[in-house]
Amino acid sequence: MRSGSGKLIVFEGIDGSGKTTISRLFFKHLEDNKINTSWFREPSDSKWGKKIRELADKMDSIPINDEFRYFLEDRKWDVENNILPSLKKGEIVILDRYYFSSACYQGARGMDVKMIIDENRKFSPEPDLLFLIDVDIPTAMSRIKSSRVVEAKLFEKESFLLKVRKNYLDLKSDFIKIIDGKRPIDSVLRSVINEFNQFFSQ
Ligand code: ADP
Ligand code: TYD
Repeated sequence: MRSGSGKLIVFEGIDGSGKTTISRLFFKHLEDNKINTSWFREPSDSKWGKKIRELADKMDSIPINDEFRYFLEDRKWDVENNILPSLKKGEIVILDRYYFSSACYQGARGMDVKMIIDENRKFSPEPDLLFLIDVDIPTAMSRIKSSRVVEAKLFEKESFLLKVRKNYLDLKSDFIKIIDGKRPIDSVLRSVINEFNQFFSQ
């Protein structure tokens, strides 16, 4: 499913890979070049997104099907209220996470990855480009350690993220570009800009 004349650029990766940092800088780069751009993140600001953020680290205490459903409902809201309207205006739409997060995270909790993708594709436009910001687990852990995760949960988080990373690397699609996120921020950003320029010069 494609919609409108804009382009959809998705950033994905495990927690601490640098998605938010790089996608914001990329957004600024496009704005500086006078390109109409919007930036959205998932979970979004919908009532479902707020519920997900409230639950945060307690997610493993709710049934996996409920967890999946919250993300799905949040995404429906995001597609309808943010993504499609911006694409219709012809904008470049940058997403910090999209349905590939559901595939890889809820997949790592045992759900079938293909089923998750099929459910989401029923209403979600396909990306034009997806940047998978890939880092190894020790790099991701050292980036998130100080900021977000309580010490006792670190080990659990580490083994979970290992599964999530594997799911990301197993995704196969022409629009996926794997970017080495371990390098300094300016080189990661440069790779993203180069890939983007190459894509749009075709
Ligand atoms: P994500 O959105 O993938 O969880 P963030 O963009 O929030 O990741 O980055 C997590 C932390 O790592 C932040 O403190 C950020 O400044 C830092 N960071 C992001 N990218 C890099 C990088 N390439 N090199 C070093 N530190 C980085
Ligand atoms: P986020 O705030 O983007 O975390 P981070 O900045 O650390 O990458 O996302 C919150 C968490 O929600 C993150 O651990 C990934 C998870 N998530 C899913 O499990 N499924 C989904 O569909 C989405 C969008 C996020």
